[in-house]
Amino acid sequence: MYSRILSTGHFVPERILTNRDLEQMVNTSDEWIQSRTGIRERHIVSDGETNLDLCEQAARRALEAADLTPQDLDLILVATTTPNQVFPNMGVLLQERLGGHGYACFSLEAACAGFIYALSVANSMIQTRQIQRALVIGGETLSRITDYTDRSTCILFGDGAGAVILEGAEEAGILSVRIHADGMHKDLLYFPSGISQGFDRLRGKRDFIQMRGNEVFRVAVNTLCQIAQETLDAAGMSPDELSWLVPHQANLRIIEAIARKLALPMERVVLTIGEHGNTSTASIPMALDVAVRDGRIQRGQLLLFEAFGGGFTWGSALVRF
Ligand code: UT7
Repeated sequence: MYSRILSTGHFVPERILTNRDLEQMVNTSDEWIQSRTGIRERHIVSDGETNLDLCEQAARRALEAADLTPQDLDLILVATTTPNQVFPNMGVLLQERLGGHGYACFSLEAACAGFIYALSVANSMIQTRQIQRALVIGGETLSRITDYTDRSTCILFGDGAGAVILEGAEEAGILSVRIHADGMHKDLLYFPSGISQGFDRLRGKRDFIQMRGNEVFRVAVNTLCQIAQETLDAAGMSPDELSWLVPHQANLRIIEAIARKLALPMERVVLTIGEHGNTSTASIPMALDVAVRDGRIQRGQLLLFEAFGGGFTWGSALVRF
């Protein structure tokens, strides 16, 4: 038994934060942001809008594309670092929104690599015949944990959600998937607070994402090149067989470095970083859906997903679409 991607969907909030807007907020420039990151604008939630709202819309689009109802699912798995609440988990909240009942729902947190982690878990559950069909989502509202007075981070992040429906199949859709983590560099990229440390510690202040970008950059490039090759090797395939690289959209220069390493022309890389910024675990399923809906990604093509994020966590998946 294998699993394959049956359909995709994504959603971004209406509000757009441009580089020009950020020029009014911190000491930066459109030129600096575009040349160092490739980002022109990002979508962010408005007051009252939440990650669950974004996940719901992405899920509805994926269900509609597959012509399925929420009750046709056996699992909802949401990867996120910005859940609406600690519990019920985001999967359960989403199931209730969609009008589903009874099947397993959970969320997992693996920072920007969360979608690959979720894909790996759902794929294993399908392969071991625990379930037949899963809704796998990456959804984030990073704007809620971004410091808009810190120019080194606030230019990067955006909000959005992307969804795929995975289904059991006789022929392989997911050919190989690899996930890794190492806490050695946990202080290079993190969000400092959490429930168990107690709210008193904050003394009424808010915490924000902390990142030593330059150091993250260097580790990310090396690690992603290795994981891409590892995932291809596991399926006995080579980079020249790839139709598309669908990378985590953290920085255009990181993506270019990986494409160069794989000897893949940039025309075969799906880029949404210009319009979406870095949406953490949402970025791969969002980019995938964009390229599926505009007709670039076609059935039967070979896709490589790869992601790297806080922890560090990282992972990659090779998919026959
Ligand atoms: O998604 C999870 C994984 N995350 C990533 O992979 C992010 C990886 N890191 C990055 O994408 C990049 O490191 C950044 C885009 C965050 C920063 O780019 P960089 O080329 O590594 O810049 P830098 O941190 O080395 O800073 C270079 C200079 C510094 O000034 P000095 O010290 O050389 O005078 C910064 O203060 O650029 C300055 N700077 C800025 N200038 C204008 C930093 N942020 C800004 C800014 N506007 N927004």
